[in-house]
Amino acid sequence: MTTKTTAPFELSQQLREQIDAALRQYVDFENDCPERLREAIVYSLLAPGKRLRPQLVLLATQACGGPIEPALPAAAAVEMIHAYSLVHDDLPAMDDDDLRRGRPTCHKKFDEATAILVGDALQARAFEVLATEIAPSKRAARCCAELAQAAGATALVGGQADDLSSQFFRPTDDTQAIERLELIHRRKTGALFRVSLRLGAIVAGASGEQLEVLDTYGQHLGLAFQVVDDLLDVSGNESEVGKRVGKDSERGKTTYPAILGIEASHQRAEMLIDQACQAVEVFGKAAEPLRELAQFVRRRNN
Ligand code: IPE
Ligand code: IPE
Ligand code: MG
Ligand code: MG
Ligand code: MG
Repeated sequence: MTTKTTAPFELSQQLREQIDAALRQYVDFENDCPERLREAIVYSLLAPGKRLRPQLVLLATQACGGPIEPALPAAAAVEMIHAYSLVHDDLPAMDDDDLRRGRPTCHKKFDEATAILVGDALQARAFEVLATEIAPSKRAARCCAELAQAAGATALVGGQADDLSSQFFRPTDDTQAIERLELIHRRKTGALFRVSLRLGAIVAGASGEQLEVLDTYGQHLGLAFQVVDDLLDVSGNESEVGKRVGKDSERGKTTYPAILGIEASHQRAEMLIDQACQAVEVFGKAAEPLRELAQFVRRRNN
């Protein structure tokens, strides 16, 4: 039986449309953007991804009782950072992939220099959108600082760097291997999940306690998400996943199934999803969409 019809990104089709409309609007550069660059930006940013991170921004805002419209710039900014990270992650110097979101990767469809520049442009635009579209300006500054930290050398980029060098790392035992792996996953993937929740809360003017709870949910969900990504690389179906499978082991990547095995990795993901759902219990019904999204991550096949 397929579970696809109950997937939250299908349930919240309306949110998805609002997110895509915002993304399209923010990369509708009026003048001076070279046509090929513009085309490559739209190709990468608007490709059929799941839009989980921007949905998390909006659902966090809603959980805190805020309207979603003021959070749309933050949702778009997070997705821009995510899209840039995918374009760069696929480059020959990194994971060297030719398939992304069911289509040729940006550097295959265009060329390597264009793919590098797409990433550069998306990263810059993300912060421009936050700085100019979030109000009041103090809140905008806080969003910029939080997203910069999550995207930077101690989080996303640092995690990517350690991920790339993992083939040269020789752990002394499984405990050390898992500790290092968890640190990579929490930074390369978890940080962006976490900050998505934080930005949604900040835009809604959340209390410190609400922010903490959403942060905890984001930490558990973000790690679970990458554990499942590792599992999909081992047992996923290429046409469903929309990217090549079986490449992590080929490249000597450190992953959960490689260290713990498939069954224990599933259990770890399940436990993390349960912890994420428990964390937001204090929100009651307002967090129901967040719990549904977490359940989607548990059973996702793409
Ligand atoms: C892929 O993220 C990169 C990882 C962190 C594993 P997603 O699986 O959310 O990618 P899209 O946005 O749906 O394509
Ligand atoms: C990607 O991890 C993390 C980021 C893009 C920051 P992976 O390299 O496992 O992601 P996929 O499998 O290529 O989507
Ligand atoms: Mg990678
Ligand atoms: Mg990759
Ligand atoms: Mg992967």
